[in-house]
Amino acid sequence: MRPIFALSLAAVLILPLPAAAQPTPWAHPGEEAIDPYAVDDANAGAAPMAEDAVFEALGGVQGVSRIIDDLVDRSVRDPRLEEIFKPTDLARLRRTLKEQVCFILGGPCAYSGRDMAAAHKDLGITTAEFNALVENLQGAMDDAGVPFRAQNRLLARLAPMKGDVVER
Ligand code: HEM
Repeated sequence: MRPIFALSLAAVLILPLPAAAQPTPWAHPGEEAIDPYAVDDANAGAAPMAEDAVFEALGGVQGVSRIIDDLVDRSVRDPRLEEIFKPTDLARLRRTLKEQVCFILGGPCAYSGRDMAAAHKDLGITTAEFNALVENLQGAMDDAGVPFRAQNRLLARLAPMKGDVVER
């Protein structure tokens, strides 16, 4: 084998797979297929925090995961919100929401979901419903023992997304 050929072969075998070869985000096991879209961290709707104090205050990857599960559990049984969440693929919602919050808090996560306008298009969400969801997130963070200041730092990152989520 020529050395140059052997080298390129080694590079192909050793180098990590390019992004295009990763599984597509709409093909996760246990989730429903949705129309393809361009995957981009910018879809998360906020830049990641530079320091990890808030991420740590929420309990890192495991803490974020528990808090989001609690948020979704509260919201699907909340009389103010249950109708909106009835047709939702909750496996996908839990996964993408966890990615999004972990990403925004500067954690070791990429966001693979849709942008906020596309994800909430035609759901007809009201300001009252937006506030109800925020209340449920606060409840989940309270129960997880997240200090008030850290809670507010996360909420401040989510608040500007209201314009893309609320339609009425
Ligand atoms: C800043 C606030 C919010 C954030 C960060 C957020 C985040 C997300 C994310 C990441 C997704 C999944 C995206 C994807 O599937 O690619 C999603 C979908 C969804 N969200 Fe939100 N959301 C917010 C507010 C709300 C509110 C207030 C409601 C209802 C009261 C809501 C109801 C839903 C529903 C029903 C879906 C599923 C849509 C579908 O099945 O196509 N969201 N949201």
